[in-house]
Amino acid sequence: MLVLGIETSCDETAAAVVSDRAPRIHANLVLSQLAEHRPYGGVVPEIAARAHLDHLDGLIARALDEAGIGVDALDAVAATGGPGLIGGVIVGVMAAKAMALARGVPFIAVNHLEGHALTVRLEHDVPFPFLLLLVSGGHCQLLVAEGIGRYRRLGTTIDDAAGEAFDKGAKLLGLGFPGGPAIERAAREGNPAHFDLPRPMIGRAGADFSFSGLKTALAQRVAALGSPEPADTADLAAALQEAIGDCLIDRTRHALGMCKSVRHLVAAGGVAANLRLRARLEALAAESELTFVAPSPKLCTDNGAMIGWAGIERLREGLIDGLDFAPRPRWPLDPKAPRAAGAGVKA
Ligand code: KG4
Ligand code: ZN
Repeated sequence: MLVLGIETSCDETAAAVVSDRAPRIHANLVLSQLAEHRPYGGVVPEIAARAHLDHLDGLIARALDEAGIGVDALDAVAATGGPGLIGGVIVGVMAAKAMALARGVPFIAVNHLEGHALTVRLEHDVPFPFLLLLVSGGHCQLLVAEGIGRYRRLGTTIDDAAGEAFDKGAKLLGLGFPGGPAIERAAREGNPAHFDLPRPMIGRAGADFSFSGLKTALAQRVAALGSPEPADTADLAAALQEAIGDCLIDRTRHALGMCKSVRHLVAAGGVAANLRLRARLEALAAESELTFVAPSPKLCTDNGAMIGWAGIERLREGLIDGLDFAPRPRWPLDPKAPRAAGAGVKA
């Protein structure tokens, strides 16, 4: 089975050809729009949508070329159907629908979050159920993955996502965008104990997160220093990475207590590329005699292979979509989940 996966929900235009047999990834091309957005210090939705429109066709052609196949070899076309910046999602969904219609193969609308959730099964044999820490630029959730399309949310953020905390921290420290990799790099030279930062929500019941207080505290430390020396910047980056990590570990530990039946702890999403966090999650899993698994770092950040793979998993269960599927700006994995205790909840 060969599936084309298209990802356009944020600032990466991505296309991949994925198979259900080894080697599973035949092509996986990601075109970053970083340069277009950098002058604005964040992703500008209108610029993102236009850039997807400009680049997607060519990228799909290159992915097919690299995979050494023609469009007629595809068994299905999968695209991110949401959640995300709606202009970009529309571009990807329309391209996928047109190809599926022209070739007479199924179209599959993939929930971007399910794409992240299932990536681990592209590389490893991880059975359901597993506890999933989903940490990206737009989302920060703990879920029990019970099966394809079946997720039970145990916790979510009441304000910022973990990736946002890295990105806003990096901006405050003048380290550029995206912040996660920049903070991880700077933190290698820093002492995490030199500056004291808060750990919001730690010790509280449940598995919800909060990061906005951490950003405010960091802003105050930076302001107090005036213009931080490189050594201060490294120490602050290390302190931020450690504080975010402490929050993620504490909340994940609570979630493990809420779902005693799982044998695997999985991390996914861009922040799961962080090597310090991966080591800490591995240690946490070992405490409970669980297995920790995460996708390779380059499959943690947005890519087309994760969408193609989720397409394969859905296709195997006969979960295909009609050409009347409407792109969704919001699309929670667990629609029945209660709102977290706090305002501005991200679903
Ligand atoms: O999953 P992703 O590529 O896009 C979304 O779906 O949001 O996640 C992007 C987020 C950004 O906030 C970025 O700063 C963060 O993941 N990130 C990292 C690392 N690599 C990417 N955060 C911490 N450490 C990293 N190495
Ligand atoms: Zn993502």
